[in-house]
Amino acid sequence: LTQHAFELNGRPVTVEAPENEPLLYVLRDRLAMKGTRFGCGLNQCGACSVLLDGAPVASCDTPVWAVAGKAVTTIEGLGSEASLHPVQAALLAEQAGQCGYCLSGIVVHAAALLAREPRPTEEDVRNALDGCLCRCGSHNRIVRAVLRAAEAMR
Ligand code: FES
Ligand code: FES
Repeated sequence: LTQHAFELNGRPVTVEAPENEPLLYVLRDRLAMKGTRFGCGLNQCGACSVLLDGAPVASCDTPVWAVAGKAVTTIEGLGSEASLHPVQAALLAEQAGQCGYCLSGIVVHAAALLAREPRPTEEDVRNALDGCLCRCGSHNRIVRAVLRAAEAMR
């Protein structure tokens, strides 16, 4: 086991883990941050997305050594039940969540998009969410919700 130091949701953390352990396992199993989801484990579904220095990455496909000294933001760092991220509030308003399994990853990608593009087109939103699969088929409502959140944030 090796010590890994990075920033998690604005706070410094140090965690012991095998050097190549996926960040997803470190977050869920060693740091008890269960909001980030395991979908495919193969960088193909988007469920495990987190922000690394502000850009979305697949935490299932990111070894923990690669985040040393960097800032990791998970869904817990974006919003909470008491203080929803505007994308979370819009997902609720559009009743876009069904099982909800994909939504952590979707909020992460949408938050990154809205941070760099406050006036996204529908196409921008669809492109930003391209790597996020929703097995419930909620895509259209999710896209509407992200556009609604963009408006609310302006
Ligand atoms: S679990 Fe990481 S992309 Fe699917
Ligand atoms: S809401 Fe069920 S997978 Fe997206």
